[in-house]
Amino acid sequence: LTVALARAESLIALTPDYPEPGVLFRDISPLLVDAAALEAVTTGLIQPFRGAFDVVAGIEARGFLLAGAIAIAAGVGTLPIRKAGKLPNPAASIEYHLEYGSAVIEAPGVLEPGARVLLVDDVLATGGTLAASRQIIAELGGDVAGAAVVLELEELGGRRHAGAVHSLFRTGG
Ligand code: PRP
Ligand code: HPA
Repeated sequence: LTVALARAESLIALTPDYPEPGVLFRDISPLLVDAAALEAVTTGLIQPFRGAFDVVAGIEARGFLLAGAIAIAAGVGTLPIRKAGKLPNPAASIEYHLEYGSAVIEAPGVLEPGARVLLVDDVLATGGTLAASRQIIAELGGDVAGAAVVLELEELGGRRHAGAVHSLFRTGG
């Protein structure tokens, strides 16, 4: 890790028993508010995929922030993957399971056919969100160019469901 990335990792905040007992919640807000950390993480997330994607898709909600930064840094557009009920005309909708509950994600039908999409999120936990996001992109007619997360919770084994993921930081391993 570079010094800037190591510092970024140190800024991730840990909260026990949120949003329910037994979950140790990792919050990237202190990293996002720090200009140098945000830049290091943005650069690090893109690095393996340079030139290989046309659109970056951010997963609600913290993924949006990363995707916006990546879009400008890489010179591509961004696609929001939303929680259910937020879009007037969703073109794709998938139900999936979380570390704590279940959810539905949806996306607008705005991709060019065959668009190469980089999926981005803050945390990989069980992998349900990322697996569902891959399905969403396929339903929209895009190609998943890759997936990148800031932090992978290795002990939850999310990679098994989510497929190949570039994670900047990992816990438990
Ligand atoms: C978190 C996180 C990922 C997802 C990871 O989002 O930002 O999107 O959970 O979990 P998984 O790998 O087990 O699917 P959350 O559901 O907390 O939504 P939010 O960002 O809207 O708060
Ligand atoms: N942080 C953010 N999102 C999450 C987490 C976490 O610790 N666990 C599952 N989704």
